[in-house]
Amino acid sequence: MGRRISRLLLLFPLSIFLIFLGRFPILPSVEGHSSVSAFFILGDSSVNCGDNIFLYPFFKGNLSSYLCIGKDRRLIPDILAEKMGLREIPMFYGQNGTVEGILGGLNFGYSKATIMNWGAGLQGLNQQLRQVFETFQVLQLQLGLEKAQQVIESSLFYLSFGKDDYIELLHDRSGIMKRFGHQAIARMLVNQITRVVEDLYNANVRKIICMGIGPLGCTPRSQWEAYNATDSTRGGCIDKINGLVVAYNNMLSANLLALNARLPDARIIFCDVYRGISTMITNPQIYGFKNVDSACCGFGRYGGMGRCLSKAMRCSDHVWWDFYNPTVTVNLNLANWTWSGSPIDICYPITIQQLASTSSQVHVGSPSQQ
Ligand SMILES: *[C@@H]1O[C@H](CO)[C@@H](O)[C@H](O)[C@H]1NC(C)=O
Ligand SMILES: *[C@@H]1O[C@H](CO)[C@@H](O)[C@H](O)[C@H]1NC(C)=O
Ligand SMILES: *[C@@H]1O[C@H](CO)[C@@H](O)[C@H](O)[C@H]1NC(C)=O
Ligand SMILES: *[C@@H]1O[C@H](CO)[C@@H](O)[C@H](O)[C@H]1NC(C)=O
Repeated sequence: MGRRISRLLLLFPLSIFLIFLGRFPILPSVEGHSSVSAFFILGDSSVNCGDNIFLYPFFKGNLSSYLCIGKDRRLIPDILAEKMGLREIPMFYGQNGTVEGILGGLNFGYSKATIMNWGAGLQGLNQQLRQVFETFQVLQLQLGLEKAQQVIESSLFYLSFGKDDYIELLHDRSGIMKRFGHQAIARMLVNQITRVVEDLYNANVRKIICMGIGPLGCTPRSQWEAYNATDSTRGGCIDKINGLVVAYNNMLSANLLALNARLPDARIIFCDVYRGISTMITNPQIYGFKNVDSACCGFGRYGGMGRCLSKAMRCSDHVWWDFYNPTVTVNLNLANWTWSGSPIDICYPITIQQLASTSSQVHVGSPSQQ
């Protein structure tokens, strides 16, 4: 079955970033060394399994929407935190309320978070940003302004949003996609992320990782929606959906690059998850996958009809865990590639390891290095 991922689409961000590479000081990476004091995570189901909710302490381990089952759904930021030598990052709603609980970082993410508020906007991008600022205030009150600023400057931020916005837009219950067209929508979403990056920068954050959206058109759910109603034995990624995601990713990476050039001392990187997962889908044997189109845990055609209910699944030879989320095998590869750039370099202009090992040389109020 041909995997119809247009290879042309995969080439874009790298070429654009190469043009701008000269603007960005690339420091040698220091093996095993990370100067990151805290790792703050914002995002959707790529960073959280549905348990970061108000009243978490009461429902702990008992949530019907709980997606992470056993160790089979370790997520990319969990793996990265380990590589940086940080302890497990607590959830915002799972923290114990002490400043020690905040110092290593927090995960503000929520599995259904979106960039825009589409009506069911619980714990979305803006709410997560508000919680970040509340957290900064706690640091300032407890540590004093100067120390808090040092913590913030040397921290690493991770933003991973957008998938659920496109899921919402593809169903287009609000009719907004039809009315404005996908370019305008992508522009709107990218502007929101860009604004959040600038807000963080203005609060003295200097190191920011922005993840792109993966190949949504290749997920079991997208395939189920496209093919289940037909008798055809067709299968494979839905080009139309992937085209939308790639357009968004390209626009986001270009915008972030412009921010790097404009904001003194900013170190903002874009990681092309689309390219990473597509590489695994197109070369399954290299990465040990036996199945690239069905959910390991789910039912119906492609396992895309219903959510995963089972608790004990061995999914290491699948690309997809449930109908929209990849398996831990995929996450381990992506974490490795974003961290080291090897064997596949998917973060631009530098790797997460390089970003983590650059010391924060922030001089507030100093002129730009240019
Ligand atoms: C957790 O789930 C069990 C079984 O479904 C139920 O009996 C119990 O009341 C639940 N606890 C909470 C706090 O919801
Ligand atoms: C709160 O959490 C932090 C980090 O996990 C830990 O170091 C600290 O001892 C905890 N404090 C209390 C009072 O539980
Ligand atoms: C999708 O396929 C399943 C069988 O896997 C069938 O029971 C169901 O009715 C189909 N749904 C639609 C909307 O065609
Ligand atoms: C990721 O990198 C680690 C450390 O270099 C290595 O042990 C592991 O096998 C790699 N995982 C994958 C899935 O490539």
